[in-house]
Amino acid sequence: MAGSGEHFKALVRSHASGNDEAFYSVALQVAAQAARRGHHNLATDLKTAVESSRAGSPAKVTSIAQPRGELSELVVASHPTVSLKELVAPGHLGEQIKRVLTEQRQSKRLLDHGFEPVHRLLLEGPPGTGKTMTASVLAHELSLPLLTIRLDSIMSKFMGETASKIRQVFEAAEIQRGIYLFDEFDALGGDRTGNDVGEARRILNSFLVFLENSSSESIIVAATNHRSILDKALFRRFDMVLDYDLPDPKQAAAVMRGRLGSIAKGVRWSALSEFVDGLSHADLVRAAEDAAKTAILTGNSSVGTDELRSALQSRRTASIG
Ligand SMILES: Nc1ncnc2c1ncn2[C@@H]1O[C@H](COP(=O)(O)OP(=O)(O)OP(=O)(O)O)[C@@H](O)[C@H]1O
Ligand SMILES: [Mg+2]
Repeated sequence: MAGSGEHFKALVRSHASGNDEAFYSVALQVAAQAARRGHHNLATDLKTAVESSRAGSPAKVTSIAQPRGELSELVVASHPTVSLKELVAPGHLGEQIKRVLTEQRQSKRLLDHGFEPVHRLLLEGPPGTGKTMTASVLAHELSLPLLTIRLDSIMSKFMGETASKIRQVFEAAEIQRGIYLFDEFDALGGDRTGNDVGEARRILNSFLVFLENSSSESIIVAATNHRSILDKALFRRFDMVLDYDLPDPKQAAAVMRGRLGSIAKGVRWSALSEFVDGLSHADLVRAAEDAAKTAILTGNSSVGTDELRSALQSRRTASIG
């Protein structure tokens, strides 16, 4: 129990110096350790006590979500406001996301029975199909901060120190509950950044060890659009793999309708089916915005089918060629 002794000393020191935040952080570390050892009731009680003490000082609650010191170079914190209903997803994907939310919301029940809620997610699919948006949705729906880690920039900036930087992020995830998004995860899967392959492999292996030991307090999300270069064995290390794809015409219409709202009242969506082929959700949002702006600038109060069609055609030329 050497770890507990150190924790106890740190608690006394932070109390003596009047540093509330340090005190709460250590208390949460003790809670995380208790959870790892299977003492889930103790872990939950401790966390509740910390949360209710902090509730008395709201300013501090927000400040801890802002990574400080070295961590601020690695992680960008945000508080997204995107809700689940804004995300257009096919049935299975939608079910998976709801499942993550349910397990996290009811994590205490699961932990009490010796099961961990899903918390290691791999998101893969083409650009602009909702991977980053999903991380935002999870953060918003669970009222947690989103902490984004750009692996490619860590790898190019810190080179030899990448593994230790990733360890710092995982340590933070133990203390500060949140959604930790490792974007550009494929930077670890191959030699795309110009890094030495052996080095990338070592970093990937340490990531997997941290992932394996991560507690279910925080959700670790790895996002990539290069499934093919990722190792098959890697997929087994995640609790859930979520596949993203380009939208079908119905989903495409839902994306545009979602962005335009009542301004798109009279649109004949079925007439647009053939123009959405090959476009991502992100392309469709942009096309819808272009069409809306054209309509407004020409003095109209609603968007017509023709404006949308030509906006879609320009998007297609821009993104598909
Ligand atoms: N499934 C979706 N439903 C509704 N809107 C979407 C969806 N996917 C993407 N969008 C829109 O496109 C924008 C960009 O999507 P997002 O950043 O999530 O893509 P991504 O999959 O992370 O792409 P990349 O691989 O390039 O990082 C979103 O902010 C949103 O406006
Ligand atoms: Mg993204």
